[in-house]
Amino acid sequence: MVKPSGKPLFITFEGIDGCGKSTQALMVFQYLSSLGYKVKLLREPGSTHVAEKIRAILLDKRNHIADMTELLLYEASRAELTAKEIAPLLAKGTIVLCDRFYDSTTAYQGFGRRLDTRMVRGLNKVAVGDINPDLTFLYDIDLKTALGRLGKSKDRLESQSKAFFQRVRRGFLEIARKDRRRVKVIDAAQSIEVVFEETQKILLKKLNK
Ligand SMILES: Nc1ncnc2c1ncn2[C@@H]1O[C@H](COP(=O)(O)OP(=O)(O)OP(=O)(O)O)[C@@H](O)[C@H]1O
Ligand SMILES: [Mg+2]
Repeated sequence: MVKPSGKPLFITFEGIDGCGKSTQALMVFQYLSSLGYKVKLLREPGSTHVAEKIRAILLDKRNHIADMTELLLYEASRAELTAKEIAPLLAKGTIVLCDRFYDSTTAYQGFGRRLDTRMVRGLNKVAVGDINPDLTFLYDIDLKTALGRLGKSKDRLESQSKAFFQRVRRGFLEIARKDRRRVKVIDAAQSIEVVFEETQKILLKKLNK
């Protein structure tokens, strides 16, 4: 028997490349499913027909995209995902998990690429309307450890400068500092199990509120 969450619950997973977002999001998905909750795992950019097409444009290394175009493509993908998936799922009482969401745009396009963060936050708002995460896990980690985890695919990371990722990491921490009620920072350099234990603790607190 599948039980609804009882209230709309939208949870996002954030942090720099290789911090462990996808690993933890999947573990949370499996955990909540095992408890009998209706739950859906989505990722950004993507997770709808149109948004996956936008994702392909964004991730194609042959495309040299201007910073503003990149920002608007992320927001277009987000507007599509929010309208087509997230809002209807929440309305049905499904718990929605999203691997990255608008904090990634603030951190990468705002702090990382140095676009005006107020403008970025404004566009985030345009894309999502009144659909905001109830809880966000920020997996904080140093660059070296994160890079080490990515192995072969770290070429992608190293094509960006280390300074860029330092700004992104600091950006995420700044977002958390400004919104402690929503954004929970977890030390992601710990083992997968310990990171999940901390995630679970925060999650259960939120579920039982
Ligand atoms: N706490 C951890 N300790 C050690 N290895 C980990 C930990 N968490 C994840 N990993 C491993 O590190 C790699 C990157 O993890 P994962 O894909 O979850 O990161 P991510 O944040 O989703 O990265 P990306 O931003 O590139 O999608 C994977 O091989 C994963 O198994
Ligand atoms: Mg991932």
